Amino acid sequence: MGDLIEPALAPENTANFAADEKERRVVSEKPVVVLTRRWPKSVEVQMAEIFELRVNASDKPMSRDQLAQALLDADILCPTVTDKIDAQLLSAPNVRTRLLANFGVGFNHIDINVAKALGICVTNTPGVLTDATAEIAMTLLLTSARRTAEGERLVRSGGWEGWHPTHMLSTQVTGKTLGIIGMGRIGTALARQAHHGFGMSILYTARNPRPQSEEIELGAVWCEIDDLLQRADFVSINCPATPETQNLVSFKKLKLMQPHAHLINTARGDIVNEADLVSALSSGVIAGAGLDVFVDEPNVSQALMDLQQVVLLPHMGSGTRETREAMGNCALENIQAFLSEQPIPNQV
Ligand code: 8YV
Repeated sequence: MGDLIEPALAPENTANFAADEKERRVVSEKPVVVLTRRWPKSVEVQMAEIFELRVNASDKPMSRDQLAQALLDADILCPTVTDKIDAQLLSAPNVRTRLLANFGVGFNHIDINVAKALGICVTNTPGVLTDATAEIAMTLLLTSARRTAEGERLVRSGGWEGWHPTHMLSTQVTGKTLGIIGMGRIGTALARQAHHGFGMSILYTARNPRPQSEEIELGAVWCEIDDLLQRADFVSINCPATPETQNLVSFKKLKLMQPHAHLINTARGDIVNEADLVSALSSGVIAGAGLDVFVDEPNVSQALMDLQQVVLLPHMGSGTRETREAMGNCALENIQAFLSEQPIPNQV
């Protein structure tokens, strides 16, 4: 790959990770930090001043071979959700990386048990993307309920024949019940937006109920997942992807939902069985869905694309300028704490 680093990035401290081996050995005492994708410029500039920074100038997902090489070259590797860092890559001989500073809160693309066993530290960026991701969950909920994506497609297609009293009727959101599966930071932020913005009642699942004062503030009631699915008008998935949550939302679970209910997923694609979701939507078991995440990103199944009652977004939950910058700064703080042997803010 002949991609070059941008000149604005203090070139004396940076190197293209894909340059040839001789060039790569920049004479530097600084830790080698590899970014697998481009990060917001302000963060790259700061990092280039502190580290020997190598960025994937192509900004395309790195191949497995490139990731393997990056693990040999980097003291600190900064992956994203598009980099699968599995046991085989981590256990290769001569891996140099001591810290995987993930850009993102979810880390299901990293085999953290193997990383831990090998003494490789892993950090993530929680907190800073909470509101942005909750906003996209609320956007999907509103879009799915009010059929606004369908409406937009109709106007753009030139097929709109004008207002009439029964045209494109949809479902009101205000005052309805929202069920939240996983009441962590993002689930809680969504509950706050839904309750205070739209007067929604909240049901939630979580390993432990939230403090009573928070439940009162959010109008939230803890319940078992089956109960939540039966009672909610909208169900939002906000739990992490783990072996326990894989395919958690199966056809059996979808059948518990009400026929007018909508499913929203901004967490990870594999928490929902996608084929089961297609069947549930096509047969009217549920009314609609809003998805920001998919099992095999960026591939979205044709069966999902063929359904009008599904809103499909390209994994943009945390994608605001403010949040992506904050994620970069958060990862940088993790790296600096790691290097200076201070307590690491977000070790997973
Ligand atoms: C990120 C996310 O954009 O942080 C997460 O877990 O899903 C997204 O919001 C992505 O993971 C970046 O790596």
